[in-house]
Amino acid sequence: MNVISLVRSYLTRSLKPFEFKNEYNETLKYGSCESLGLYVHIPFCTQICSFCPYCKELYDREKADRYIDALIKEIRLVGKKGMKKKVTSLYFGGGTPALTADRIDEIISVIREYFVITDGIGAELHPENVTPEILGTLKSAGVTKISIGIQSFGDKFLSVLGRKRFDREKMSEVLKSFDFETVSMDFIFALPNQTFEDLKSDIELAFSSGANHIAIYPFIDFTFTKSPIKAMDNKSKRELLDRITLYCQKRGYRRDSIWTFSNSATAKYSSMTRENFLGFGCSAATLLKKQFKINTFNVEEYIKRIESGKLPTSLTLRFTLRQRMVYWLFWTAYSTKVDRRDFEKFFGVPLEEYYGEEIELAKKLGLITEDNGVYEMTLKGAFYYHYIENYYTLAYIDKMWGIMRKEAFPEGMVLK
Ligand SMILES: C[S@@+](CC[C@H](N)C(=O)[O-])C[C@H]1O[C@@H](n2cnc3c(N)ncnc32)[C@H](O)[C@@H]1O
Ligand code: SF4
Repeated sequence: MNVISLVRSYLTRSLKPFEFKNEYNETLKYGSCESLGLYVHIPFCTQICSFCPYCKELYDREKADRYIDALIKEIRLVGKKGMKKKVTSLYFGGGTPALTADRIDEIISVIREYFVITDGIGAELHPENVTPEILGTLKSAGVTKISIGIQSFGDKFLSVLGRKRFDREKMSEVLKSFDFETVSMDFIFALPNQTFEDLKSDIELAFSSGANHIAIYPFIDFTFTKSPIKAMDNKSKRELLDRITLYCQKRGYRRDSIWTFSNSATAKYSSMTRENFLGFGCSAATLLKKQFKINTFNVEEYIKRIESGKLPTSLTLRFTLRQRMVYWLFWTAYSTKVDRRDFEKFFGVPLEEYYGEEIELAKKLGLITEDNGVYEMTLKGAFYYHYIENYYTLAYIDKMWGIMRKEAFPEGMVLK
């Protein structure tokens, strides 16, 4: 048994692994879910980056149009007529959703027939999509937050990643003429020979080029990607992570999740930290009170399934209560804080009744502190969280996505 299985068995108090089945519900019961978010996946890019694990293929207009027609049908299959469910947010991720900016308006209109979005709409862009035309189209469709995949402002690192150079000043000029509530920029850290000075420069350039929010992800070397980049050793990675965090704190940038910082109180961009979500499109996941399900990664099979009037679900996991608790805690902790009242509201039982010992241990080890029922991660806690997340990503997500990239509808899958 490996470390992650041991931790999972201990926390779920069971040897039962996560068992995904090739089955699905024809109707998704999301009516009573509180704090529900929406995610739409657009799997097309004009360039395929060798390090990227996401579900995507080369952009082709005709295929993208057929895909979006199917996507709209999926929303109609899931949406409940006569009920406008309140949802927190809607995020368009990819791939590169900005490539189909001209159809985002249509997708949002269909979504609004079934849902009321309270906290805004986000969309991901490649730096080459930051043009007045695309930003104008997104803005008039109702998009309020954008996230741009910068990765690095340093040519040296762009070339390590195999990404094209872009004109930062031109991008900054275009951003100035639009007023989005959040302009986030994505960076990758822990690249070979990357120093704290390199990252400090990226952070400052981001904020001076129009961003009010940044996401700095550690480079993850997925087994199924063909990336020649070697992952940095853990000690150097920890040093970098601690220095970035302390630097951002000293500069007064607010940490709103493990990897994100902002220089404004209202800037927020996260499609991950929600208690429940409905996902539409290839590879999109749905998380409800008792189940997790994931759609097929295969664009043609996705379209075919929807044409036959059925949901494009590939695998479904039905949670035990403890499994769901661990899942909830893991993703809530992503925001660096866990409020015991939120846990109790979601599960109807006190957090300490189920995980009191672990909380005391984490406090003793200096991983968390407590203030008025809110547990907050310390710098050390954030590093170990990152360590677990990295492990989880490689033990679970890497395995799951690896299988799903090969088979549209696998028989089943067991994650130990
Ligand atoms: C869907 S892309 C963003 C939008 C657009 N497709 C682009 O690349 O500019 C999502 C983000 O995931 C991050 N990412 C992709 N592969 C990664 C990896 N192997 N390790 C860490 N972060 C990664 C990148 O920062 C990227 O910007
Ligand atoms: S990093 Fe972005 S542009 Fe590159 S392949 Fe992934 S989704 Fe596409």
